[in-house]
Parts: sequence; structure tokens; C-alpha cells
Amino acid sequence: MKVGVLGTGDVGQALGKAFLALGHEVRMGAREANNEKAKAWVAANGAKASQGTFAAAARFGELIVLATLGAANESVLRTADPDDFRGKILIETTNPLDFTHGMPPRLSVGHTDSAGEQVQRLLPGARVVKAFNTVGNAHMFRPSFPGGPPDMFICGNDAAAKASVTELLKEFGWGTIDLGGIESSRYLEPMCMVWVLHGALSGGWNHAFKMLHK
Ligand SMILES: NC(=O)c1ccc[n+]([C@@H]2O[C@H](COP(=O)([O-])OP(=O)(O)OC[C@H]3O[C@@H](n4cnc5c(N)ncnc54)[C@H](OP(=O)(O)O)[C@@H]3O)[C@@H](O)[C@H]2O)c1
Repeated sequence: MKVGVLGTGDVGQALGKAFLALGHEVRMGAREANNEKAKAWVAANGAKASQGTFAAAARFGELIVLATLGAANESVLRTADPDDFRGKILIETTNPLDFTHGMPPRLSVGHTDSAGEQVQRLLPGARVVKAFNTVGNAHMFRPSFPGGPPDMFICGNDAAAKASVTELLKEFGWGTIDLGGIESSRYLEPMCMVWVLHGALSGGWNHAFKMLHK
């Protein structure tokens, strides 16, 4: 499968590498086609890795990953052709963090809206599935915890897209908890702050969520 990864940060790099490890082709997108971080990532990751603009990565991908600074989501997506997202699964990993008031960051949207919903509204033809936003990039692929595989919380409006992402997450080493429509991003985005605050207060970043059942 061809995967377009929009984002050159730690998440784009980690997920891009994970898709390559599973045998897929990955094009990493950035504002500039010759972005230096993407260039280094491509050089380190072999023949199935390539780079381009955000628009080129979206065009390339049969599946698309959005891994951009939350505050930049709209400007990034407006550089691409909405037709290049039509009918495709878009894995939406972002958190709408506002760093302008210092640390810890605040969420810039919430309660009645979310980054996940904003992305789905911008790209009505895309099959947006929120995932990966509640764990650090170091544990996104094949997480190894003494308590067994952690759970990825996902949401989205398209049941078939969520089923595909659930299968993918199984390959990535995750259990999946489906929280319903994309509006549940309103709860998943604050949940990222639980992960971040626990890391900041405990001084470690090796934790992940798991739902216990009986
Ligand atoms: N870091 C984590 O472990 C983690 C975990 C879960 C979720 N998340 C979320 O995942 C997303 C990606 O996080 P990250 O840490 O990998 O990277 P990031 O630093 O949050 O974002 C990097 C990407 O955002 C783009 N970008 C930044 N400012 C921009 C602007 N003004 N206009 C257009 N594009 C802009 C960059 O474009 P260029 O490539 O052109 O520079 C780059 O591709 C974020 O929303 C974050 O909250 C992060």
C-alpha cells in the first residue's frame, strides 16, 4: 500500500518507519518539497521511502496520516487538493495544543468541537479516524509493556474505515477501543494531556493506556 504521511516531526517519522517495516511505501510531506528532516528520514529508511510537499504526499497516499502541529492542520490541509483525500482513510493523530501560555500547553479547542472534527469538516470526502493521539511516538509501533499490549482509543464516522484501522493497529501491536463518531475527539484530545501530565510529573515517558474489563 502507498501511505502519505503529512508531517516531518517525531510522529510522522515514527509512523512512517512503522509502515515501511510492514512493507508499505511511504511518502513524507512537508511545506517544502526538499525539507531537510524529510531528506534525512528518507536517506535513513531505504528505497520505499520518499518525500514531497504535503500536497504530493496526500496525492501519493492510498492511506493518509495527518501528523502536523495541531495549530497548523488547516493551513497544511488547504495546500492539498481535497480530491486527493476523497474516499481515503485519513489517520488523524494531532492534538490542538496551544503553547502560547507556557507549559503545560492548553487545548485550543474543546467541549463542543475538536481538531478531529475540524479536519473531518475541512475534508468531508475523507474517512477520518482519530488514532495515536494518546500515546508518545516512541511507543506507537510494537509497544512493549509488562502489562501486555496497551489500547488505542479511536473514533470516526466511517465504520469500515475504523475496522481497517483496527486491523492495522493489531499489526502495530495495539488493542483498539472504538469511542464512536469523530465528535469523540473532544474527549480523546484532552486525554492526551493526561498522558503528558503523567509524564511530566513522574519524569518518565514509558506509559500507555489500557482499559481493563471483567
Ligand atoms: N510527539 C508525540 O509523541 C505526539 C504523540 C501523540 C500526538 N502528537 C501530535 O501529533 C502531531 C505531530 O506531532 P510531532 O511532535 O510529530 O510534530 P510537530 O512538531 O507537532 O509538527 C511538525 C509538523 O507540523 C508542520 N508545521 C509546523 N508549523 C507549521 C505551520 N505554521 N504551517 C504549516 N505546517 C507547520 C511541520 O511542517 P514542516 O515539515 O514543513 O516543518 C511538520 O511537518 C501534533 O499535533 C502532536 O500534538 C504528538
